[in-house]
Amino acid sequence: MAGVTPPIRDRFGSKFGIIAAAAGSAVGLGNIWKFPYEVGNNGGGAFLVLYLVFVFLIGVPVMISELAIGRNGQKNAIGSFKAISPKRPWFLVGVIGIGAAFMIFAFYGSVAGWTLEYIFQSVKNGFAGKTPDQLSSMFDNFVANPFRPLMWQAIFVVLTASVVMAGVKNGIEKYTKILMPVLLVIILILIVRSVTLPGAGAGLNFLFKPDFSKINGSVILSALGQAFFSLSLGMGTMITYGSYIRKNDNLGVTAVQVSVADTVIAVLAGIAIFPAVFAFGINPSKGEGLVFVTIPNIFQQMTGGYFFSLLFFILLAVAALTSTISLLEVIVAYFSEEYKISRKKATIYSSVVILFIGALCTLSNGGILANFKILGLNIWGLLEYTSADILLPLGGFFIVVFVGFFMGRKRVKEELTNAGSLKGKLIPVAMFLIRFIVPIGIALVFLNAIGLLKFG
Ligand code: TRP
Repeated sequence: MAGVTPPIRDRFGSKFGIIAAAAGSAVGLGNIWKFPYEVGNNGGGAFLVLYLVFVFLIGVPVMISELAIGRNGQKNAIGSFKAISPKRPWFLVGVIGIGAAFMIFAFYGSVAGWTLEYIFQSVKNGFAGKTPDQLSSMFDNFVANPFRPLMWQAIFVVLTASVVMAGVKNGIEKYTKILMPVLLVIILILIVRSVTLPGAGAGLNFLFKPDFSKINGSVILSALGQAFFSLSLGMGTMITYGSYIRKNDNLGVTAVQVSVADTVIAVLAGIAIFPAVFAFGINPSKGEGLVFVTIPNIFQQMTGGYFFSLLFFILLAVAALTSTISLLEVIVAYFSEEYKISRKKATIYSSVVILFIGALCTLSNGGILANFKILGLNIWGLLEYTSADILLPLGGFFIVVFVGFFMGRKRVKEELTNAGSLKGKLIPVAMFLIRFIVPIGIALVFLNAIGLLKFG
C-alpha cells in the first residue's frame, strides 16, 4: 500500500494484558502493606465483610465508569473529558486526577523505596539476631536517614520510568504480564509457610471471624476509603487504561475481574501475614510498622526465614512497581498527548518533578524537613491526606455523576454493550448504583474526611 499509515494509538494487545496491567495498578502496597494493618486495627473479620461490600457496591461501578470514559474519549484522563464534553468544565476532574497522581507517587514512591532497602537487608541477612526493639529502631533510623531512603526512592522512580517509557504494549503490558504471575506465586509460597506454622489457626480466626460489635462509623469509613485506594479509583488511572482497551473487550467483566483479583490478593496477603503474626504471639494491630518491623521479627525467628524474608520484600516491591507504573502513565499520557511531546520526554520531565516532590515527602518523615508543618501535618502527611482522603473521593464522585447524568445515554450504552453486541442485562443495576448508591456513599466518606460530618 502506498502512502503513510496514520499513527495508531498504542493499546493493550490481549485480554490477559489488560487484566495484568489494571490488576497490577490495583494490587499494590495498599493490599500488602496497608490492608493487613487496617484489618488489624479495625476488628479483623468484621472489617473484611464491610470491605467486600464496598468493593462490589461502590468500587466496581466507579471502575466501570472510569473505563467507559477512557474508552469513549480515546484520550488521557483530561483529554477524554474534553473529547466527550467539550463545552463543559468536566476536564477539571482530570486536572484533579493528574494533581493527585503527582502527590500519590511522591509519598508512595517513598514507601516503595523502603521495600528496596528491605530487600537489600534481607540479602545481607540484616535482621538476624535482632530483638524486636532493635528491629523497630532499625526501621526508624532508616527512614530518618538523610540519604538512603532518597537513593532507593530515586532508583524506584527510574525503574518505573524505564517501563513507562517503553510504551503501553511494549512496556506496561509486557512487564505487568510477567510481574503479576510472579507476585501470585510468591504470595502462595508465603501462605503455605504461614499456615503450616504451629498456632496459625488463631490468625485465620482473627482474619475471617467477623465480630460485628467492632463496627462503628469510623471503621465503616476506613473500609470505604481503603476500597477506593486499593482499586486505584478516583484519579483517572482507569480512564487512562480504559482508553487502551480494544472496542470488543467487555468493560463490565473487566472491572469485576480486576476487583476480584485485587480483593483476592489483599485477602491472600492477610492469610500470609496473620497466621505468622499469631504463631509468634505478636499483637496484630501494629499499625504501619506491621510489615517493616513485625515481619522481619517473625522471619528472623523462623526456620528458612532468610529465604522467606527475601521473597516477602520482593513481593512488596513488585506490587509497588506495577502500581507506580500506572500512576506515572496517567501523567505521561496527559503530557505526551496534550502537549505533543514524545513519550520519552514526557516520562523524563514528569519523573524529575515526581522525584523532587517525593524527596520533600521523604525528608519530612523524620529527616531534615520533619519540623516543617502546614496545618499540623508534615509534607508527607499533607500530600497523603489531600490526595487519598480528599482528591480521590472527590474525583470518584464527579466521575460517577458524569457517567450517570452528563455523558449521555448513547455513549454510556455504546461502551457498556460494545455498541450493541453485548446483551447488557445488568446495565440497569449498574446504572442505578452509578447514579444513586455510589454518589451518596462517596459523599458520606468525603464529608467525614474533611471533618464536616463525624461518625462514631
Ligand atoms: N491501588 C494501588 C495500591 O493499592 C495504589 C494506586 C495506584 C492508586 N494507582 C492509584 C491509588 C490511583 C489511587 C489512585 O497500592
